Amino acid sequence: MNVHDSEKIAGIFAESGHEESTGKGDADVIVLNTCSIREKAEHKFYSDLGRLKKAKANNPDLKIAVAGCIAQQEGKKLFKRFPYIDFVFGPNNIDSLQTLINGNALATLKRHQPTFIDVNPDYPSMVLPVKRAGEVKAWVSIMYGCDNFCSYCVVPYTRGRERSRPSTDIYKEAEKLAAEGFKEINLLGQNVNSYGRKLDEDIDFPALLYKLHEIEGIERIRFVTSHPKDFSEKLIEAMRDLPKVCKHMHLPVQAGSDNVLALMNRKYTYKEYKEKIDLLKSNIPEIAITTDIIVGFPGETDEDFRLTMKALSEIEYDGIFAFKYSKRPGTKALELPDHVDEDNKSERLSEVQKLQENITYNKNKLLEGRTVEILVEGASDADKEKLTGRTTTNKIVNYYGGSSDIGKLINVKILDAKMHSLSGEKR
Ligand code: 5AD
Ligand code: SF4
Repeated sequence: MNVHDSEKIAGIFAESGHEESTGKGDADVIVLNTCSIREKAEHKFYSDLGRLKKAKANNPDLKIAVAGCIAQQEGKKLFKRFPYIDFVFGPNNIDSLQTLINGNALATLKRHQPTFIDVNPDYPSMVLPVKRAGEVKAWVSIMYGCDNFCSYCVVPYTRGRERSRPSTDIYKEAEKLAAEGFKEINLLGQNVNSYGRKLDEDIDFPALLYKLHEIEGIERIRFVTSHPKDFSEKLIEAMRDLPKVCKHMHLPVQAGSDNVLALMNRKYTYKEYKEKIDLLKSNIPEIAITTDIIVGFPGETDEDFRLTMKALSEIEYDGIFAFKYSKRPGTKALELPDHVDEDNKSERLSEVQKLQENITYNKNKLLEGRTVEILVEGASDADKEKLTGRTTTNKIVNYYGGSSDIGKLINVKILDAKMHSLSGEKR
């Protein structure tokens, strides 16, 4: 979400004639686009900001802006604590940068000027310029905010209420991407399954997928993230029946214990979650499934934790993102009793990761000798001699190929499977 927000910020600068700096101290403006999902992300921002104090002392004309969820959370307080910040805007007000630059206010901006952190009701229907990082795959926002209020999560407070973009705007953006040569779109929302709920149009997420599927040139469609409580049979059928929709489902379970799930305010039991997974697997046997896990949530006992481990063994995810519970300002979980100590959290995290590494590795090994189709994205980061792409199931495949392969669907035979990637040869 934040990566794509940064692409919008860059898009606004590019449209108004600004160029990207070399990153070697030649910038006139620096925007820190912040994340506050966990404490670690916040720490990173504050240490980056500390470094910028020096840069500002060396160059008083340098403008420093803070964007994203910390900007929303802290608002004007940031000016007080860090008087060298010039401008603050939240994730619902990225367009404010446009107004500011067009009025050339950026050049004359003074400290302690108004911040742009109020929820802007027009934001979902705005079409902002985007400077995209790649040429094959593109992020497309379909909705903003979240109404779920999971008790650990800061997002509903920083990104505001859930609002969907009109489907015609999304369609036009995808059509434009196709015309520009993009092959894959990745639809973004905190809970894509509730897409359309508050729109005047009669549309839901599966219907949006059918609509976007018509666009010629777009070969693949992905989406993140789905909330298990809203994950429907209708969506499973759309994924099964629409060939461009990738066979990968990211469905955050968070925990395997019903006690913990209730404390998290997730609104499903493990059994209900598992039934949806079984339905998904029976409809789409080749589906890859990934999840998010939080360990050490307040009140999580050893027994509760065992149930998370059991869930991982039972479901056999293709991959997981696992986190230690992190206290977030303003959230309900802060007030819960029995917070788990840091050592215990770390132990649980490494146990979860160890178990999953085995599962992921064994799953990848099964692909050795098989031929898979990948969408080629460009040179591999790890080995510039090789190209990299992904299978429909979102597995990374590296192989030797020519640059004319980039942007194409290519068949590759898997020779060697590792934990995080596969290597193969072109067929
Ligand atoms: N602590 C730890 N992990 C969190 N997540 C969200 N909030 C927290 C928190 N306070 C994780 C959830 C979510 C993912 C995006 O981040 O697992 O699915
Ligand atoms: Fe946070 Fe829950 Fe909303 Fe996801 S669904 S953004 S975890 S509140």
